[in-house]
Amino acid sequence: MRTGRAARILLLLAALSPVFQAQTVTVDDSVSGFIGNDVILRCTFTNNNPNIKITQVTWQKATNGSKQNIAIFHPSMGVSVLPPYKARVSFKKPSLDDATIKLSSLELLDEGVYICEFATFPTGNRESQVNLTVFARPVIDAELSPDTITARAGSPRKIVVATCTCANGKPPGIITWETNVNGETDVKESRNQNGTITVTSQYLLVPSREAHRQPLTCVVNYQMNRTTKMLMLNVQYEPEVTVEGFDGNWYLNREDVRLTCRADGNPPATSYQWKMLNGSLPVNVEPQNTTLFFKGSVTHELAGTYVCEATNAIGKRSGLVEVNITESPQIPPSSTSSSSSMAGLDGSESNNNTLVIGAAVGGAVLVLLSGVIIFIVLRKRRQTFKGDYNTKKHVFGNGYSKAGVLPPAPEHIPYQEESDEDKKPSSMNVSYENERKVPRDGVDFDADSKRPYFTVDESDTQEEFEDQTLSFQYPPDLTEDMVSQNDGSIISKKEWYV
Ligand SMILES: *[C@@H]1O[C@H](CO)[C@@H](O)[C@H](O)[C@H]1NC(C)=O
Ligand SMILES: *[C@@H]1O[C@H](CO)[C@@H](O)[C@H](O)[C@H]1NC(C)=O
Ligand SMILES: *[C@@H]1O[C@H](CO)[C@@H](O)[C@H](O)[C@H]1NC(C)=O
Ligand SMILES: *[C@@H]1O[C@H](CO)[C@@H](O)[C@H](O)[C@H]1NC(C)=O
Ligand SMILES: *[C@@H]1O[C@H](CO)[C@@H](O)[C@H](O)[C@H]1NC(C)=O
Ligand SMILES: *[C@@H]1O[C@H](CO)[C@@H](O)[C@H](O)[C@H]1NC(C)=O
Ligand SMILES: *[C@@H]1O[C@H](CO)[C@@H](O)[C@H](O)[C@H]1NC(C)=O
Repeated sequence: MRTGRAARILLLLAALSPVFQAQTVTVDDSVSGFIGNDVILRCTFTNNNPNIKITQVTWQKATNGSKQNIAIFHPSMGVSVLPPYKARVSFKKPSLDDATIKLSSLELLDEGVYICEFATFPTGNRESQVNLTVFARPVIDAELSPDTITARAGSPRKIVVATCTCANGKPPGIITWETNVNGETDVKESRNQNGTITVTSQYLLVPSREAHRQPLTCVVNYQMNRTTKMLMLNVQYEPEVTVEGFDGNWYLNREDVRLTCRADGNPPATSYQWKMLNGSLPVNVEPQNTTLFFKGSVTHELAGTYVCEATNAIGKRSGLVEVNITESPQIPPSSTSSSSSMAGLDGSESNNNTLVIGAAVGGAVLVLLSGVIIFIVLRKRRQTFKGDYNTKKHVFGNGYSKAGVLPPAPEHIPYQEESDEDKKPSSMNVSYENERKVPRDGVDFDADSKRPYFTVDESDTQEEFEDQTLSFQYPPDLTEDMVSQNDGSIISKKEWYV
């Protein structure tokens, strides 16, 4: 009874655990390799029962439900590899418990199910299967459209500008695009007869001048590998034309003026034509390539709108400039001179920073110096104009003391003057119903206007005035104020608006 029960338990254990199985054929779960590479197909036999004898080892491939022999090992007959595997298959260590083989120079057709079979006596055949997967590296290529890409105004049609292919991959690669140019992709996949897959991705966009010379990169991800192919877009477009050379300072008798036509076109503009918007070109001009030379000195006859028309293979476009002639040289605006000097610094920025720092320090010294000079000039002038102030002109106590607080703009006056018989200094924040005036920028204009004014020659207020003068030495708009003070009145602006 007891032994029978023990035997049953043993049987149960044997069924559950492979350790207790009598014979086991062990293979890998799956095997894969790239075309041309070698793979190892492992196969071992575990035999717990010394009464079971292995008679032969066989590798087969399952094709279409039937089995095709590849290689056989027999203890006394030796190794036999069958065609077409003769040159590519070999036993690693031919023996009755290890049937491992090497399959070299993988081909796509090698993919499939392989069977490792041990023939035993007296129990019969034992076998296991392993799947072999063959990978094929794709061939990646990207190219621009062979057609000329032309930007046409008013044509929003998207066209194919580039094609990226990931050919004959197994598994297929994944194509994406990287670019700053807006567009869309069109992907197609086709399966080849040998089981590989060709992926084709086209990039479409609306051709534009902005897209010209923009990089377009095809990115292919395949089995953790990333391959990129960069293309440079080439878009043809009509010339974009601007006319340079008029600096707003063409005064009578100025010599050596010219206008230059700048045309950005692809392909480059080949011809340039100059004309006037109204009428014909002045007699003494000579066009040479992109430049219109004016011979002799400037006269009133040169005024007008000059048009340059540039032509390339795509079309023609024009740019224009309106030239007016002044009697005498214009004082060049300070902004132009500073911007040109900035450009000079920019050009040499790669050299070193000391130049910039030097310029900054120099500028600071200059500002300080001019501040001192202005202060001295003001002081002098105040002394000389004492008599004038004494007669009629008055200084508001707080008039200019605050930098950035400018007198109300003249255009506001008509809206406010009529209703206010008081003629208080107008301010946008002043409401007529409300007696309390709203402070603007921290300065109470109402308080300002009610503050007793003082004349410069009052001895005790002279000190106060000097303080005020000092306090507005440094605002940057001081020089502008100075210009308008040619009449000697520092407060002239404020007074105008009161
Ligand atoms: C496998 O069988 C299919 C039909 O079942 C047949 O079309 C095909 O040609 C066969 N392939 C080989 C290699 O025998
Ligand atoms: C092996 O391949 C066969 C046939 O292609 C398939 O049915 C089976 O699921 C595969 N086994 C594994 C473990 O991938
Ligand atoms: C698979 O087929 C394609 C198309 O016929 C061919 O270009 C490619 O070379 C083939 N790949 C292999 C590995 O034979
Ligand atoms: C990935 O790229 C490296 C280097 O180009 C190459 O050696 C490797 O075989 C590639 N792997 C695959 C899966 O293509
Ligand atoms: C050009 O001439 C037309 C009439 O011929 C005139 O109406 C127009 O104002 C002129 N334009 C300029 C910029 O002179
Ligand atoms: C005009 O252009 C041609 C070709 O670009 C050049 O050879 C020639 O010197 C130019 N003429 C002038 C006056 O710039
Ligand atoms: C002259 O032309 C410039 C720029 O075109 C313009 O800003 C300026 O107002 C013109 N002056 C006169 C007097 O027409």
